[in-house]
Amino acid sequence: MKYDIKINKTTAPKARPEDESKLGFGRIFTDHMFLMDYNTEEGWHDARIVPFGPLPIHPASTVLHYGAEVFEGMKAYRAADGSIQLFRPMENVKRLNKSAERLCLPELDEEGCLDIIKTIVELEKDWVPHSEGTSLYIRPYLFGNDPHLGVHAVKNATFAIICCPVGAYYAEGLNPVKIAIESEDVRAVRGGTGYAKCGGNYAASLRAGERAERNGYTQVLWLDGVDRKYIEEVGAMNVMFKISGKIITPALTGSVLPGITRKSCVELLKDWGYEVEERLFSVDELFDALENGTLEEAWGTGTAAVVSPIGNLFYQGKEYTVSDNKIGELTQKLYDNLTGIQWGKVEDTHGWIEPVCNG
Ligand code: PLP
Ligand code: COI
Repeated sequence: MKYDIKINKTTAPKARPEDESKLGFGRIFTDHMFLMDYNTEEGWHDARIVPFGPLPIHPASTVLHYGAEVFEGMKAYRAADGSIQLFRPMENVKRLNKSAERLCLPELDEEGCLDIIKTIVELEKDWVPHSEGTSLYIRPYLFGNDPHLGVHAVKNATFAIICCPVGAYYAEGLNPVKIAIESEDVRAVRGGTGYAKCGGNYAASLRAGERAERNGYTQVLWLDGVDRKYIEEVGAMNVMFKISGKIITPALTGSVLPGITRKSCVELLKDWGYEVEERLFSVDELFDALENGTLEEAWGTGTAAVVSPIGNLFYQGKEYTVSDNKIGELTQKLYDNLTGIQWGKVEDTHGWIEPVCNG
């Protein structure tokens, strides 16, 4: 089912960034945004693309008081022939609905949601940057918008999409990042909202993230909230380790975000003949592997972060170096293949690419 999208184009388009090497992440927004409203009587209605601008919001809105919000992060890529394409967008749509279900927010029609995403990307196609390593980051988000303070499942909601031309997420680019393993705060617990991509998970992670940054680390590696010893994920990425030739990545226990980049990397690694273990993986096992020299590579995976080598790990006062603080061979191969598929330079044998429009 497609939503009936009304398009109101801006009469004052902004100048697009000239220097694509300075895009950074999430600071520049395109000319338009998508909005659609929900209430229990009408369901989703009034789908519209309007000039980018502030959202009017009731001071009692559920999202402001009880954090009823879920979001997605995906990218549109410009292929060598100039055409625009998405990477596994239906995975994002399905995850958005799973997140919404966890927070008692209304779900979207999957085909309709994909059509909305393609419509706004096509409208903003000139904003998809051209330089290597750049893309148009798409941020769909859905929030409860009831104008009263009772705590209950929402009756009014808004679905929005904004877009940003982006470069690398980390200032380090493809250089190894320094990660601090967090031993005090926890991000999520089983039964909670860890597997959902909801704003509250990120709010809960900020204190540890700030502490890590003050000490010179890029992000935090979370341990599980019950035993406080199993590795879960990094602030904006899932993690993988190559130990004695095998790949180990934390199992999706319910408190870890089921990353689409993670899933894609696991599929690529299996195609290449690697044994991939998705299981509980303790910090002790990681440090044994570091100390006995069997930890060959460590990296994170995520839409914003792509494939990001981990060069340093800090835990309880000690710092450890991974792969001599250089990008490992397999990390580089994963990066090259994944981005090759995303930018249309490597054949897409899995059917992961969804074409949007010509350039
Ligand atoms: N884990 C967290 C907490 C994230 O924010 C992200 C980014 O979306 C990921 C993992 C990676 O997920 P994906 O590969 O779907 O972007
Ligand atoms: C993403 O990779 O899309 C993310 O959502 C990470 C972060 C910017 C929250």
